[in-house]
Amino acid sequence: MRTQVGIIGAGPAGLLLSHLLHLRGISSVVLEKRSRDYVERRVRAGVLEQGTVETLVEAGVGERMRREGLPHHGIELRYGGAGHRIPFEKLVPGRSITVYGQQEVVKDLIAARLAAGGDVRFDVEDVAVHSLESEPYVTFGGERLDCDVIAGCDGFHGVSRPAIPEGVLTVFEREYPFAWLGILADVEPSSEELIYTRTDRGFALHSMRSPTVSRFYLQVPADTRVEEWPDDRIWDELRARLESVPGFTLTTGEITEKGVTPMRSFVVEPMQYGRLYLAGDAAHIVPPTGAKGLNLAVADVRVLTEALAAYFEGGSTELLDGYSEACLKRVWRAQHFSWWMTMLLHTFEDDDAYGRKLQLSYLDYVTSSEAAATTLAENYVGLPYAT
Ligand code: PHB
Repeated sequence: MRTQVGIIGAGPAGLLLSHLLHLRGISSVVLEKRSRDYVERRVRAGVLEQGTVETLVEAGVGERMRREGLPHHGIELRYGGAGHRIPFEKLVPGRSITVYGQQEVVKDLIAARLAAGGDVRFDVEDVAVHSLESEPYVTFGGERLDCDVIAGCDGFHGVSRPAIPEGVLTVFEREYPFAWLGILADVEPSSEELIYTRTDRGFALHSMRSPTVSRFYLQVPADTRVEEWPDDRIWDELRARLESVPGFTLTTGEITEKGVTPMRSFVVEPMQYGRLYLAGDAAHIVPPTGAKGLNLAVADVRVLTEALAAYFEGGSTELLDGYSEACLKRVWRAQHFSWWMTMLLHTFEDDDAYGRKLQLSYLDYVTSSEAAATTLAENYVGLPYAT
């Protein structure tokens, strides 16, 4: 079997890449080790930058997102007994975000690929990538797929990155001493906008998925197991952290999903080797506080699509050779923003009184200075693409 681009992984990066390539007349095969049902149900982030929304709309996969996604024009930072709104419409006029679950994006992309006759294979076993320097190929379930290039879109734990010879990649990483316990609940959101809360008990986030489904996160110790958190304990803790301003009450309901997300910052450089190009979580991870993971994956895929189009249409490898460099500027901006939001809003066990004072001083600055708030807002809604 032969294709132009062998794509490992049917997450947002792999599926969007396959679809954008299809629109340019470039063939691909997507190989996914999980089932379709699994990838469509896997609950992940839910904040789409304006550029991500525009990319999906331009690719013709934005119809349901436009209908069901929730446009947001601000977020709230809550600490010290008060809420402070970061008003996007004032600070970054004309720019906003859309709340729409990653798994909904994945469903829309799979539907679009299949409707266009795309080759997306689920439940594929023993995927491995070979001969990365030239004439690369992928093996899976006893079959062989020859390709011109391979796109590693298989996430942090995928097979693509580890196939790159030792000594080629430089790893930059930071681990955090906490995780997020995330839940979905069948309850109307208690707030119209997202609330990021810093309390002495730890961070909490009130997000949502629809007018009837809310999403919440609690900062918990890194080794937390979901079994330690029965529903009542979760609601008690969310109330303790979120009901910290006068007049705010949290509406509770049935919890339908629970999971623990580790917090990690991670980048490999370069994001390519030979004929293998990494995109999304395969190349970089951010803590979820900045809501940047999915958006960065989309930005990588945009760059890779242009580079592959130039290669297949005109034979030029210039953009492909510069792929990693073109992506890494945005990757590092998002790394800094995500680290910064994380440091601003979480509690740290080893933090002393001085550290807490610094954190509160910074929060006061961000919520009182228009310049500082604009920095947050323009990063949150997403900086413009370089090309
Ligand atoms: C989410 O709704 O899942 C969500 C929102 C904002 C974040 C992270 C996750 O920063």
